[in-house]
Amino acid sequence: MRSTCSAVLVALLSGSASAFVSTPSLAANAKSSSSLSMVLEKPAVKKISKLETLKVNSDHLIHPLKEQLQTEEIGVSKDAYQILKYHGSYQQSNREIRGKVKDFQFMLRLKQPAGELPPELYRLLDDLSANHGQGDLRATTRQCFQMHGIMKGSLKHVISSIMDIGSSTVGACGDVNRNVMTTPAPFATADYQYAREWSKVFAQLFRPLTPAFSEIWFDGEKAATVETWSKEVEHHNVDEAMLYDSGRGIILPDAVEPIYGDRYLPRKFKIGVTVPGDNSLDVYTNDIGCVVITNPTTGELEGFNIMVGGGMGRTHNKENTFARAADHLGFVPKEDVMELLKSILASQRDHGNRDVRANARMKYLVHTLGIDNFRTLVESYFGKKIQPWRSIPEWKYNDWMGWWEQGDGKLFYGLHVDNGRVKDEGSFRLKSALRVLVDKYNLSMILSPTQSLIFRDIDPNDKDGVDAVLREHGIVSIEEVDPLARLSMSCPALPLCGLAQTEAERIMPSYLERIRAVLTKMNLDDEEILIRMTGCPNGCARPYMAELAFVGDGPKSYQVWLGGSPVLTRTAYPFMAKMKDDDLEATLEPILAMFIQQRQEFEAFGDFCHRAGADAIEAYCASYVPGSIVA
Ligand SMILES: *[C@@H]1O[C@H](CO)[C@@H](O)[C@H](O)[C@H]1NC(C)=O
Ligand code: SF4
Repeated sequence: MRSTCSAVLVALLSGSASAFVSTPSLAANAKSSSSLSMVLEKPAVKKISKLETLKVNSDHLIHPLKEQLQTEEIGVSKDAYQILKYHGSYQQSNREIRGKVKDFQFMLRLKQPAGELPPELYRLLDDLSANHGQGDLRATTRQCFQMHGIMKGSLKHVISSIMDIGSSTVGACGDVNRNVMTTPAPFATADYQYAREWSKVFAQLFRPLTPAFSEIWFDGEKAATVETWSKEVEHHNVDEAMLYDSGRGIILPDAVEPIYGDRYLPRKFKIGVTVPGDNSLDVYTNDIGCVVITNPTTGELEGFNIMVGGGMGRTHNKENTFARAADHLGFVPKEDVMELLKSILASQRDHGNRDVRANARMKYLVHTLGIDNFRTLVESYFGKKIQPWRSIPEWKYNDWMGWWEQGDGKLFYGLHVDNGRVKDEGSFRLKSALRVLVDKYNLSMILSPTQSLIFRDIDPNDKDGVDAVLREHGIVSIEEVDPLARLSMSCPALPLCGLAQTEAERIMPSYLERIRAVLTKMNLDDEEILIRMTGCPNGCARPYMAELAFVGDGPKSYQVWLGGSPVLTRTAYPFMAKMKDDDLEATLEPILAMFIQQRQEFEAFGDFCHRAGADAIEAYCASYVPGSIVA
């Protein structure tokens, strides 16, 4: 069957810029152009891009990084920097410090499958950030910590210390599978436990195997201990499943990286795992989303609903880049889930766009083919039909903040962290508080998908003690946090992010205050609106899923997005470009006025904007008389 193929489809799959389609009408043609009864061929190898060549020449992520780390320079070359990403680090410079010589420093991001952070690792990170970083830690939107301000000369010490304690930074960045996310709630129920466990299985399944990491950070020796999560999923025989070769092209003839090959993936790759109904992790934004399906009577794991093709990143004024929510692919029994995930990854590896990086994420492949053709492509590697998606309850969003019973006699506590910043500042001493809690109660943490923290396995007798430590360090209880802040997210942006076009994290608190003031004025204080902000269209804080989002498009200027859902299941639409900082109130007031007048009962703001649509809202705004409407 391998030899039969449709020329049209091969052209579409070849990922060439000319064959790439993105407009809805063209995409519709693509979907109908071929009733697939054939298995699909890999695209012919064309002239490959510079970055792809760099990957090949790196000899599986070693060169020229190894050489560049040994120079006297305070930074590394552009090429070495590209390879460094796979090791978990970005080279950055403070854009607000002007001078002839850049003050190169490094950001280091951990890999923490399921967001888990044992107490000994927190102690280490706390010390490392104080002694070798800029003093704070940042909880990211993918459930891991990152640290800024590390000097080149300290990188080896910092990375090897992290690996020695059973954690890792490997594959935290780069064109590989990124940190695997899951719902952060540590409930003791079977489905929640399966979600945690299988997140670690998938992290293990798609870890890079190259010896580059030990060669560069340990001079060819091994770390003192293997990763905590890899020990925890040993009984799944992940390596055997990974290396199993069905003969259908998943396993490459590459002795070092049989799954990734020497070019790794076309672009980053993201996986999220959750339980039915719990969309606290934005599961639709992943390349692969997995939903645990258990037997309703026995509670045993039966398999997973699988969705594919989500992704946030886009570029302003490039219509063929867009944010996308994942499509439902189908159901897979647990015995086959690793082989199915390998098949999906191989589909993207072999058919994703390697010529145009802006179109390299798997979402473009899924979009171009349509979900049915994409499923056929995956089945050509999988060797079986993918079963239909099992129906599951409606999604809900919960941030899991505050006190909860785990269901095993223990409690967990979700601690809201504004924009993920773990630092001490005046009377607000969050970083010190965490250290006291970890030292006093030996607590394990789970990082949340919204840049906050959860302490798990707390003895109910320690509840008051934990609360007291937090109050002593100036941290307010969750009830005192403005719901807008609690729901919101923003990315780091300036001054360290090289792509930032304007502020995000630093200006978000003032935006929330201003939006709160508008809501108060219009008597809408009870509305909870999920708001996100990023400094550029890259979308690190997943703005395109929010009910209201601000996406930086120039100095003090934002694109305004509306219409995402409060349960994060669809993308928003761009409502307006170039909203200046000063115009925030004037922009929001008419939209909220229309919401007051035309909403349906219990309709959320994002759902209303979705139903009304951009044109109607724009027309309403044009004729609105300021100050005329209150709820
Ligand atoms: C603290 O917790 C870790 C892991 O959760 C455990 O390995 C260690 O033994 C504990 N230490 C103490 C002093 O209880
Ligand atoms: S969204 Fe853009 S500005 Fe924000 S951190 Fe990501 S790349 Fe930087």
